[in-house]
Amino acid sequence: MTILIELVKDIKTRAEEFGRPIAIVPTMGALHAGHISLIKMAKAECKTVVVTIFVNPLQFGPNEDFNKYPRDLETDFKICQENEVDIVFAPTKEEIYPDINKIEQDLIVPPDNLASVLCGKTRQNHFSGVCTIVKKLFDIVTPDYAYFGEKDLQQLYIVRWLVKTFTIPTFIRACPIIREASGLAYSSRNKYLTEEQKIMASNIYKALKLAKQNIRSGIFTINKALLEGLIFLSQFPEIKVEYLDARDKEDFSIVDKNKTGGIYCLIAANVGGVRLIDNIELQ
Ligand code: PAJ
Repeated sequence: MTILIELVKDIKTRAEEFGRPIAIVPTMGALHAGHISLIKMAKAECKTVVVTIFVNPLQFGPNEDFNKYPRDLETDFKICQENEVDIVFAPTKEEIYPDINKIEQDLIVPPDNLASVLCGKTRQNHFSGVCTIVKKLFDIVTPDYAYFGEKDLQQLYIVRWLVKTFTIPTFIRACPIIREASGLAYSSRNKYLTEEQKIMASNIYKALKLAKQNIRSGIFTINKALLEGLIFLSQFPEIKVEYLDARDKEDFSIVDKNKTGGIYCLIAANVGGVRLIDNIELQ
């Protein structure tokens, strides 16, 4: 049976009753196949699975989609039931941030080399918002394992920084990106796209695959391969690329230009005003 908990004071004892190891799957709801894959991995490895659903105001910029972000707790709860989640934790904003105007003192600010690059360039304070909520959720639930998708790769590296820096005894598990048949990575924001825009957006993954092939072949340097990816995408004026870049798998640093493996290529692009991110690994 799946139970819904909305009060912070109830969650830890209830999770303990279900038994350890406790898994946490932090989400902002509007659950899709990507989230479900995290839940399945958590189910396979842990006794108790807690899915958190909280649209975190702190990680949205003033001109972003906090107000219109898809919210449907009823459907999300059903999905959790179908996937045998033990606890759905959906706290209110007031409980998590009793005084959001004074939150500055409690903000967790990750280092610039991780948080002010790529997505952090255009989404200032976004990763502080992510770290602050993830730390709070970890404090409340005290999970043994936490499941994050590689889809939000920069977030994953920052969460790893968080647990290391605050010596949090939670093991971070990374889960592969789940894609639609077209190659488009599942995202709650895909709900904003028309069918036509979704087809257009699948070229984002094609550009990543092209960059991967070109680096693999050894004919192109990383920079040239990324440029080829941008040239490919320039055929589609509906796709507005924010960045297409590469990072070292080891520590998310800028990649040595001669490397051909242990790399991620990452992209952020806008389609019809919807910001999409994706990445591909070169093993
Ligand atoms: P949200 O966007 O709801 O994503 C929740 C988790 O699902 C993240 O770890 C994300 O990487 C993973 N995910 C999303 N799409 C995926 C896909 N196509 N394949 C695999 N995993 C996917 O990320 C957040 O929420 C928030 O920032 C959060 C961590 C909950 C903090 O508020």
